[in-house]
Amino acid sequence: MEDLIKLPKVGKATVERLEKAGLNTFEAIASTSPQELATKCEIKENLAIEIIEGAKEELRKKEMNVETTEEQNEEIKYVNTNDTVTFTDKNNDVAVVDENNDVASMINTSSNVGLTSLPGVGPAIAKRLGDGGFATLEAIAVASPKEIAAACEIGESTASKIVLGAQEQLNIGFETALEVLERRQAIGRISTGSKNLDELLGGGIETLGITEFAGEFRTGKTQIAHQLCIIVQLPESEGGLNGSALYLDSEGTFRPERIIQMCRGRNLDDKKEKVLENIIVARAYNSDHQMLIVDQLSDKIVENNIKLLIIDSLISHFRSEYIGRGTLANRQQKLNKHLHQLLKIAEAYNLAVVVTNQVMARPDMFFGDPNTPVGGNVVAHASTTRVYLRKSKGERRIARILDSPMLPEGEGVFKITEDGIVD
Ligand code: GTP
Ligand code: MG
Repeated sequence: MEDLIKLPKVGKATVERLEKAGLNTFEAIASTSPQELATKCEIKENLAIEIIEGAKEELRKKEMNVETTEEQNEEIKYVNTNDTVTFTDKNNDVAVVDENNDVASMINTSSNVGLTSLPGVGPAIAKRLGDGGFATLEAIAVASPKEIAAACEIGESTASKIVLGAQEQLNIGFETALEVLERRQAIGRISTGSKNLDELLGGGIETLGITEFAGEFRTGKTQIAHQLCIIVQLPESEGGLNGSALYLDSEGTFRPERIIQMCRGRNLDDKKEKVLENIIVARAYNSDHQMLIVDQLSDKIVENNIKLLIIDSLISHFRSEYIGRGTLANRQQKLNKHLHQLLKIAEAYNLAVVVTNQVMARPDMFFGDPNTPVGGNVVAHASTTRVYLRKSKGERRIARILDSPMLPEGEGVFKITEDGIVD
């Protein structure tokens, strides 16, 4: 029974009259006319108006409460079609998830809306762009027309108009050649210690961007990360950047002993203490902690002349904390924020960000290596260069560049030895 006593100027006596007249709910009262109410309850019309207004107000309050609880309960909706599951959260962001619970693509439909402002893009093409991982103007602006054409099943000339449109809207793409040259000249490169790998990377790990090493366990991701921490400290003539390294260790696999071993292999035995001093290690205990460390890096970077920021591994905390279907969209949003923070740091301080990533098996791939880096398009788009590592015989490992707009396709072989990463 509703609390009619809450209504303005309604005491016990009026409640009784209201109930007698069959007006025992706020809905019933709100839908009567003042005259009707006045007659039925033998009250003045002015009072009836106030009571009806009060009942309407109570209904509004109730409605708002209902909405908020509904919102909480229905944060994520999901539909299951064939092998993939699609989640939609309350912002209408759509995540397509495969059976391993990994997000295959993350579509921010709220930003899809802006895509229809592009030439030749209606709602259908906007949806296809989103489905193909090109949900934002930024993603489209930096994509190649080929990629867009393939994703949307449209012609390349239409696709290039779309790309140009996105570049125009973001006011990018118009730079003088001199400006481009200046920007490129600021890029520094860190050698990996392997000529093959360096060549594959176009001269080494670049600053101003994120380089991702993805591969199965024991493919050498952590070994490469260790070695880079040493080489970044060397002068430019020796493949370094005269800087120090910050190692964000999320898996507890950083080993100073391994650094000492690698120093020995590079004839830096007498400098090993200095080398160790120039590697700052931060252990991240969970994904929030990991993000917090990155948030608070600015001072450390300047103070210590950090030129290399390692995140080993990028995703393991996110993966283990965000399990279960309802958390996927949140996880991807958080990861996206984290990656953009890393990109900003790379650009602001002209340093190299290197992240390691795990792989998962893709059941839909019938040819070739079925493993693909985890983290979906959020990671794919943020990484400037993706390197995929796989095992070969013994100490050998094979590196391959995945979808880089800059680097030619190809593979390079390197070895993991006691001395470190070599050809
Ligand atoms: P996960 O973190 O488990 O995903 O793997 P990862 O890719 O980080 O592997 P990691 O970089 O730790 O590489 C491990 C490989 O390096 C193993 O195959 C080891 O045999 C090799 N390795 C590590 N230390 C040494 C060493 O001192 N000498 C030699 N020869 N190999 C080493
Ligand atoms: Mg590792």
